[in-house]
Amino acid sequence: LRYPVICIDGPSGAGKGTVAWRLAQTLGYQLLDSGALYRIVGLKAFEAGLLSVDIQQLIDETVLLELTKSLQIAFEPNNVSGRVDIIVNGLRVGEQVRNETVGGYASRIAVFPQVRQALLKLQQDMAMRSGLVADGRDMGTVVFPYADVKIFLTASAEARAERRVTQLVNAGQTADFDAILTTIKARDERDENRAIAPSKPAEDALLIDSSSLDADTVYQRIKEQCQTQG
Ligand code: C5P
Repeated sequence: LRYPVICIDGPSGAGKGTVAWRLAQTLGYQLLDSGALYRIVGLKAFEAGLLSVDIQQLIDETVLLELTKSLQIAFEPNNVSGRVDIIVNGLRVGEQVRNETVGGYASRIAVFPQVRQALLKLQQDMAMRSGLVADGRDMGTVVFPYADVKIFLTASAEARAERRVTQLVNAGQTADFDAILTTIKARDERDENRAIAPSKPAEDALLIDSSSLDADTVYQRIKEQCQTQG
């Protein structure tokens, strides 16, 4: 028996998280927030002093790999935040992994093949237990190539930066559009051009550009795709 898998890949800020959560709730599936895995490893690597200020400098890959393997990671849905909570070695990790600084750490450790390999089984095992909505960069290309539905959700870097500014302003914080745009582009560049599992649509993925679509329209389109393909 194989459970259904729905993959939603694409860059940060395209709206993957929101739509993946809603879809998982509606279908009664588990949600795999694969970005959270890379964020946790990125944060732990930073705390362990493995991320130098100089972005070009090579991290000690052996230590990084050991650190990755030492982490027991699990997810629990949180109806209040509308995201999964991340449990690492039995402890709940707060929202501190969800900021752009940690997103940057994540994309730096995500280039290492052995780190990706170490996280692979945990991700694939989630699909053995129930239906799954998986959100990330390589869900449809590497982790679940056999998935029933594959979506690649993008939006222009400008549209994504604009959304981020709105989010921050709504949260009572200040936001610098140009600085946010530069950071978004730098992370996209690293994710799209790395040698292993780069962020790109699977050949059989449906492409959706959410630049001028609201979250509800995106959700409806993906749901339709699940009904025709799932
Ligand atoms: O999706 P999110 O912004 O949380 O991902 C953080 C970073 O983790 C990405 O920029 C990417 O470098 C990495 N990532 C990845 N593969 C995934 C999910 C995330 O390499 N499947």
